[in-house]
Amino acid sequence: MSSSQRKDLGRALCIITGASRGFGRTVARELSRLVKPGSVLILTARSEENLRSLEVELAGSEAGKSGLLVQCVPADLAQMAGLQSVVSASRAAFSEHIDHVILVNNAASLGDVSRFTSSFTDMAEVDSYLSLNVTSCLCLTARLLQALPPRPGLCRSVINITSLCALQPFKSWALYCTGKAAREMMFRVLAAEEPDLRVLSYSPGPLDTDMQLVARSSTADPDLKKTFSDMFSSGQLLTCEASCAKLMKLLLEDSFTSGAHIDVFDL
Ligand SMILES: NC(=O)c1ccc[n+]([C@@H]2O[C@H](COP(=O)([O-])OP(=O)(O)OC[C@H]3O[C@@H](n4cnc5c(N)ncnc54)[C@H](OP(=O)(O)O)[C@@H]3O)[C@@H](O)[C@H]2O)c1
Repeated sequence: MSSSQRKDLGRALCIITGASRGFGRTVARELSRLVKPGSVLILTARSEENLRSLEVELAGSEAGKSGLLVQCVPADLAQMAGLQSVVSASRAAFSEHIDHVILVNNAASLGDVSRFTSSFTDMAEVDSYLSLNVTSCLCLTARLLQALPPRPGLCRSVINITSLCALQPFKSWALYCTGKAAREMMFRVLAAEEPDLRVLSYSPGPLDTDMQLVARSSTADPDLKKTFSDMFSSGQLLTCEASCAKLMKLLLEDSFTSGAHIDVFDL
């Protein structure tokens, strides 16, 4: 462990997309434990019911009782109105007491993995995938950076939840691999442009979530499908908690190169 690891993440405004389930839900829980009283968590996803249950859970936790504010923003991030509601809630919560903004771009979809690349002839289908997984991620990040501008003493961290698929081709996963690669390059450009930001692309590893269930049941490529099924049946999938603990360690240590891709298995 680095000797300079911070004990907490400060009085933070955390915006977590895809917080309703899976990895994003765990990130919200873990961040709630590492931020100081007076911090605000903005939880967003489409499922209001799942967000509300997390809000209730966190309100009753140690952090909730010591002054953590949790706000749910049910929103479809594929829609401009959805982005705007997250930005409005974040701007309203950005008080002078906040000393750390943490944006976790976690929401994503797998896309149709039951077909191979040569079947994607419909521009509207591809545009719709990229709209949620690339365009909305870029535009939400840009809007939030404008709405929560730099000021003395404020640290701004932007986390992109990425995948090995950003770096390696997975047969029958054309949409997902393309989206993750594009997103990652976008964050590398951002890191190069704005050296004061802390930008991290964190690859959480194979997680036991709904997305994995779709991966092992629908993947068209038989070898890849078998790999996912074997990982599941032999207990090789990671829990969201185990992977998230490594992400939290990276944030506390704060020694990563801005814009870097860091995989859970690198740590
Ligand atoms: N699972 C893995 O093995 C794995 C491996 C590497 C990387 N990752 C990455 O880790 C992240 C989390 O994955 P996961 O496995 O937790 O996925 P998941 O279980 O499918 O959860 C996806 C989250 O994104 C939200 N979301 C999806 N479409 C949305 C939309 N249109 N608007 C707003 N929110 C939306 C979902 O909430 P609602 O449905 O309520 O909107 C949900 O909270 C993703 O970026 C994924 O690519 C996952």
